Amino acid sequence: RTTEIDSICQKASVLPVIAVERIEDAVPLGKALYEGGLTVLEVTLRTDCALEAIRLMREALPNASIGAGTVLTPEQYRQVEELGVDFIVTPGTTEALYQYGVTSSVPMLPGVATVSELMTGWQYGYRRFKFFPAEAAGGVNAIKSFGGPISEARFCPTGGISLSNAADYLALKNVMCVGGSWVAPQKLIDAGDWDGIRELAREASERFHR
Ligand code: 3PG
Repeated sequence: RTTEIDSICQKASVLPVIAVERIEDAVPLGKALYEGGLTVLEVTLRTDCALEAIRLMREALPNASIGAGTVLTPEQYRQVEELGVDFIVTPGTTEALYQYGVTSSVPMLPGVATVSELMTGWQYGYRRFKFFPAEAAGGVNAIKSFGGPISEARFCPTGGISLSNAADYLALKNVMCVGGSWVAPQKLIDAGDWDGIRELAREASERFHR
């Protein structure tokens, strides 16, 4: 599982966090991000058409790594598994999600915000985590501090990350990539500004490396 998450995260330093409100936006949005160089996408289950959006993106972008985000329950985990997602991301993680995650062939990037939560995931064998909400839960300093007691863990921080602070996170040795919605802002999605999103993706993919 660690190896699978590592190979997905190695493909891109920035993981766009996407919310698709209108189903017709799913494919052009996914394409714009992919063409801009962001080939790993997290589609959140926050909108009514999220499952259908994942299905269409899966079809239209066979070479992208497509994950489902905001997975809150084992039922949702199962649902997106059936759609053929490459990975699962959770904002925080329950015992039920860990119990299901260890039996699943689709790797999970469990969300944690504290050392205790990290230790729970550790007990289940997890070594790669989403740190959420990154800026609100202590930011760069928190991740640096996690590296003391639990040096083997690696993180994808998300929440409040943008062009202005992504490099600070990516400079840490226990950060593997960063996630964020800044490359797919709702305003540009609503306007159908796919060129604008492609440029944001390009800027992020060219500027940030791990
Ligand atoms: C997430 O679920 O990862 C966050 O909502 C994304 O946070 P951001 O919008 O601050 O980038």
